[in-house]
Amino acid sequence: MKKILLVLIVLAVGISSFGQSSVALVVDAGASKYTISRHIYGHFSEHLGRCIYDGYWVSESMPVPKQDRIRLDIVEALKKIQIPNLRWPGGCFADEYHWRDGIGPRNQRPTMINTNWGNVTEDNSFGTHEFLELCELLKTEPVIVGNVGSGSVEEMSKWIEYLNYDGISPMTNMRKQNGREKPWGVSFWGIGNENWGCGGNMTPEYYVTQYKQYSTFAKNYPGTTLRKIASGANSTNYQWTEVLMQSLAGGGGRGGMWGMDLHYYTRPPRGNRGQGGQGAPPAGAQGTRPAVQGAPTQQNAQVPSQGSATDFTEATYFATMQNALRIDEIIKGHDSIMTKYDAQKRIALVVGEWGIWTDPEPGTNPRFLYQQNSLRDALIAGSTLNIFNNHCDRVKMAQLAQTINVLQALILTEGTKIILTPTYHVFDMYKVHHDARMLPVKFTSPDYVMGNQTLPALNVSASQDSSGVVHITLVNIDPSKSITLSTTLNQVKWATVTGEVLTSAKITDINTFDKPGTLVIAKFDGAKKQGDLLNVVVPSKSVVLLTIK
Ligand code: AHR
Repeated sequence: MKKILLVLIVLAVGISSFGQSSVALVVDAGASKYTISRHIYGHFSEHLGRCIYDGYWVSESMPVPKQDRIRLDIVEALKKIQIPNLRWPGGCFADEYHWRDGIGPRNQRPTMINTNWGNVTEDNSFGTHEFLELCELLKTEPVIVGNVGSGSVEEMSKWIEYLNYDGISPMTNMRKQNGREKPWGVSFWGIGNENWGCGGNMTPEYYVTQYKQYSTFAKNYPGTTLRKIASGANSTNYQWTEVLMQSLAGGGGRGGMWGMDLHYYTRPPRGNRGQGGQGAPPAGAQGTRPAVQGAPTQQNAQVPSQGSATDFTEATYFATMQNALRIDEIIKGHDSIMTKYDAQKRIALVVGEWGIWTDPEPGTNPRFLYQQNSLRDALIAGSTLNIFNNHCDRVKMAQLAQTINVLQALILTEGTKIILTPTYHVFDMYKVHHDARMLPVKFTSPDYVMGNQTLPALNVSASQDSSGVVHITLVNIDPSKSITLSTTLNQVKWATVTGEVLTSAKITDINTFDKPGTLVIAKFDGAKKQGDLLNVVVPSKSVVLLTIK
């Protein structure tokens, strides 16, 4: 009899109702050691497709509020989510960009071919001054990536002088002639982009030599210390990290690096388009395939199918989430190598390009990488940001690729119309974590099951801001089961809980120009204080923010 009772109690605690799992979550303010840098919430905008041109930067005749040719509706939307930094001009474009072509009277600027992105003619009307004007409007910090692949040491060195020097010099004079009296003081500086690929196909050893040389002539001028970011590894290329850390972590010969820029994209399983809910998980590891990183080159411009952004089965969703969550183990892998050479964690792991990369929308230029953005994107964004928060001892900067109309965008535009994507709303919810103290969390996630595979259904991060308010962000990736949480808040005095939620009926749901409000942030009333416990029901396929005061 006793045994039967025990089994019943265990069942009652473990499964609170059909389709739900119950989890004990501990948020431990007493164990808080690190701050979540706001720079984890950064963004990346390249001269690619309609991100800059016909994105931020529109024709003079477009009837939208503008400053110069910068769209102010976009600026206002991005200001609302307080974007802390913006990485520019690429990407692959950075290593064929010559900054001198993008200054001076616009009608005298030379054109160039954007060979990576559709061979379109770049008219250079958006250059250094325009980018920094955009950053000033956004109140965000610029992150500029210099050209190592096809540029010169002199070119990069002079660009920094142009940007940051206030004394008498040829570059200062030129900047003043071009209308800017005071230097901008650009501090975050990338020494090349993906130099293992589109940035020159270099070995790590060769890149280290290049880095040292370029870095030596990347000078600090009065008032601005450069925070140099080395081109980091592609996904799981741990050898790249090993070589760079071994050679550059010491900081000798002016080579010192502030950070190292890892790139990781989430690819849906290849060739597995949605088929009206049919279709088994693909062969092998049920739809996973080794993540192929980096931009497809001109030579393989016939890009194989990455899977649709909007038309996918649950099996494809599962495999895509599996790829997205791999970033946790990839960060751990790079961090453990970095820690061998930098136990104090002074050098930042920057995740300078991340997000989901799907097939472009049918009917658009395939090299413009324009893709829609569904609830799946929001769940990837929420999960990835939780992972970054929990690794904030090492991950001190990241940039989602790419802000407007490209890859996992925050904003999509069509003529004068704009829509805010589900991903945008996640960044809006998560801004509470900017520069807050990370609070460690402990729990055992229930499984999200697909065939004989499982994934952790729940991921969580928590922080406490300077006024003592605690924020918890939770993502339940399971598309059909909610999760019941019983939460203990160690060393937190609190009286009230409020919440917000982002979800929708289907994981494929999107915002469109006709229906821009399908996915928006809603009030969440699934969290209750019961004694000292915080009880929460996290709906299936949702991102939840709790504010605890
Ligand atoms: O974001 C698109 C491309 O992906 C970038 O130009 C490149 O750095 C990466 O391979």
